[in-house]
Amino acid sequence: MDLQLQNKIVLVSGGAKGIGAAIVGSFAAEGAIPVILDRNPQEAQALLDDIACGHFFHVELTDTIQISKTIDQIHEQVGEVDVLVNNAGVNDGASLEKGPQAFVSSLEKNLIHPFALAHYLINDLKNNSGNIVNVGSKVADTGQGGTSGYAASKGAMNALTREWAIDLARFGIRVNCVVPAEVMTPLYKKWLEQTPDPSETEARIKSTIPLGNRFTRASEIADLVVFLASEKSSHTTGQVMYPDGGYTHLDRAYTSPKQ
Ligand SMILES: NC(=O)c1ccc[n+]([C@@H]2O[C@H](COP(=O)([O-])OP(=O)(O)OC[C@H]3O[C@@H](n4cnc5c(N)ncnc54)[C@H](O)[C@@H]3O)[C@@H](O)[C@H]2O)c1
Repeated sequence: MDLQLQNKIVLVSGGAKGIGAAIVGSFAAEGAIPVILDRNPQEAQALLDDIACGHFFHVELTDTIQISKTIDQIHEQVGEVDVLVNNAGVNDGASLEKGPQAFVSSLEKNLIHPFALAHYLINDLKNNSGNIVNVGSKVADTGQGGTSGYAASKGAMNALTREWAIDLARFGIRVNCVVPAEVMTPLYKKWLEQTPDPSETEARIKSTIPLGNRFTRASEIADLVVFLASEKSSHTTGQVMYPDGGYTHLDRAYTSPKQ
């Protein structure tokens, strides 16, 4: 299947590792030109060396002035962007107990930069009939406990997917959202290691994932992102999709321990 992504310029926030790195790799495999925005230069450079294409811009995404300047540099050095993938985020445990300051800071880590990137790239996307793929989280649907800022941000990503899909349909710009549930990435590993018994927690979570009792691979998230960004999804917009082995929506009775 020709996804017609050759030479498309694809900006991936948080593309240096984890799911973002897999997204960068999948776009590169389709002949697109990935542009990584991240604060992690070593891993970004290693990835670019590996795929032998693409660009890296060092940016702290909680700083919207840095984002604006970086977009100017991308225009000068690479060109107009065809696809925006809003992937960067962190489940940072900004709970009710931690208070309003931590909540605002969590929104800066998870929600403000996707809006800022869409804002600064809007003319590119209009000029190129481009599209946006947001990366959400199952926490928006299920809750998790102790993570109000992240839950609110990811809930807002689902809402913005629909809002922007309507807002931008008149320009031919599509907007979709891919929602991971359980994917073993550096971020996930860090979280797992904070649990009292990481291997027990890992086994327990795996046992509740209906399809294959395993975590979703980062490449499985990436391939859906690439498909949604491609011409093969040309009439798909405003959709929130769950490549999660059935974890978020299927009946728990199927995976609950037998009595
Ligand atoms: N891993 C999972 O199981 C899972 C589940 C649900 C949702 N998600 C979502 O998927 C996305 C990717 O998660 P991951 O697990 O690959 O994370 P990760 O921590 O492994 O990788 C995130 C990348 O984003 C970069 N980044 C994050 N915040 C940044 C900032 N403020 N400025 C610059 N760079 C920044 C990091 O440097 C890193 O390279 C996130 O939005 C996350 O919420 C992941």
